[in-house]
Amino acid sequence: MMQLRRYFLACVLVLALPVHAAEKPGKAAIASAHKLATEAGFEVLGMGGNAFDAAVAVSAALSVVEPQSSGIGGGAFFLLHRVSDGRQVMLDAREMAPGATDARQYLDAKGELDRDKSVNGPLAAGIPGEPAALVWMAEHYGKLPLKKSLAPAIRLARNGFAPDARSLMFLGLRKDVIARDPGASALFLPKGTVPVQGWVLKNPDLAKTLEIIADKGHAGFYSGEYATKLVDGVKKIGGNWSLDDLARYQVKEREPIVFQYRGHQVVTAPPPSSGGIALAEMLNILQGYDLSKIRGVERTHLVVEAMRRAYRDRAEYLGDPDFVKMPVAELISPLYAAGLRASIHPKKATPSDSLPGFMAPAQGTDTTHFSIIDADGNLVAATQTVNLPYGAAVVVPGTGFLLNNEMDDFALKAGVPNAYGLVGGDANAPRPYRRPLSSMTPTFVVGPERTLVIGTPGGSRIITMVLEGILAWFDGDAPQKLVDNKRYHHQFLPDVISIEKDTFSLDERKQLQQMGHTLSEGERPWGFMNAVDWNRQSGELRGGSDSRGVSGTALVK
Ligand code: GLY
Repeated sequence: MMQLRRYFLACVLVLALPVHAAEKPGKAAIASAHKLATEAGFEVLGMGGNAFDAAVAVSAALSVVEPQSSGIGGGAFFLLHRVSDGRQVMLDAREMAPGATDARQYLDAKGELDRDKSVNGPLAAGIPGEPAALVWMAEHYGKLPLKKSLAPAIRLARNGFAPDARSLMFLGLRKDVIARDPGASALFLPKGTVPVQGWVLKNPDLAKTLEIIADKGHAGFYSGEYATKLVDGVKKIGGNWSLDDLARYQVKEREPIVFQYRGHQVVTAPPPSSGGIALAEMLNILQGYDLSKIRGVERTHLVVEAMRRAYRDRAEYLGDPDFVKMPVAELISPLYAAGLRASIHPKKATPSDSLPGFMAPAQGTDTTHFSIIDADGNLVAATQTVNLPYGAAVVVPGTGFLLNNEMDDFALKAGVPNAYGLVGGDANAPRPYRRPLSSMTPTFVVGPERTLVIGTPGGSRIITMVLEGILAWFDGDAPQKLVDNKRYHHQFLPDVISIEKDTFSLDERKQLQQMGHTLSEGERPWGFMNAVDWNRQSGELRGGSDSRGVSGTALVK
């Protein structure tokens, strides 16, 4: 009887015990490409801000300290999860083609695509979305006024900071183009050449621009005196922006792409990003295999075949959702993936030219990503960009920021390769007021016990990097390990697996070649992934910042 009572008591106790899962992390985690940006985020959390205020601070600070990657003259996707009401949304602050956009402006006298015009100088620049996003996020999701959340970035711009080796390396790559523009060279080539490490970049004009945004919000940048100065300056150096273009620019709230993978909800970027749809296709295909048991070359082969199929679709169907009708529901459906999976031979590569032909993506390589979980469990995954390093390499005097070269993310001439030897189609043709297709893939993976916030720069390789990061997380890798892992990539065309140095052993390479794959090892590593995760069972928060970047910093506190 006693025993029975004890047993009963134990059962009651077990039932009455709270589920171990913590409702809130209690601490915050921020991983970004720069220590000063991560610190800016924590500074704003310390002022009583939430993850969205911290995102404003990190985003703006990156705009100052990583001018090669993103900035006030660029665009961004901010994926948000708000705990209070469960709202999940992506702020689309992608650049917009100006009203005067005409694909012919990128052609030379012979009608050939003139790459110089699409990546260098003012014709390469779309209307910036970054300032609008900072204001929108602060006003609709934050708790603090912009004066507070932009304060760290304003201070960094005014007092200066020492650009890191990565910034200077990219400056070296772009110096000849920067030297053509008086505004950009005054800022970045102070003595007519690339400064040595230790040089302090002070940018009072950018501090003033940020102050105007802090004081006057959206209108302060997109209309009135500031807009007139910007448009006049762009016209003076050969661009075609108008006041009406700036007045039209709006942040769009987009419903994220949401799908299930191994009992977890994946929340990711919808069009005008191609990332979420391609990620859904790849994970849906791979869901049909027990990857926990498939290792080595056999697994790489299946992942590559999933990549190949998703990238084929990505270029054929996707573009700006306000202009292009897309079969999104079909593309992300498990049934569609099952059909694609059925076409994969377990041991033989499918040559890309045996699949219905289309084009591969064409996004630039420099961009930046940061991930945030705050003490309440609000999430932000943000990827922001000016496209190629230092964007269009022009600065309108008095503004302090580089214009983006995002117009090159359009398929500027059907069938003609872009800067990366790639081509695109109608769904992503340049038209007035359209937003160019992107690969930026800020993503959350939310399971019953764990949450991951992940993303990376890296042009067309962004999506496969996010895929590999998620697969590694399911294999048990901590954020620091999964951001540091070696990478491989396939994007349908060219029909090769790109690999970083030492991604595969000699034996693995040989086996992949025997399956019919062609491998191409690049000189440089790629990506700069920043990820954080939260284990609700143990309460642990972790962060990882890619060791490929010199200043990346993940902190938990
Ligand atoms: N410009 C890089 C991307 O949007 O994918």
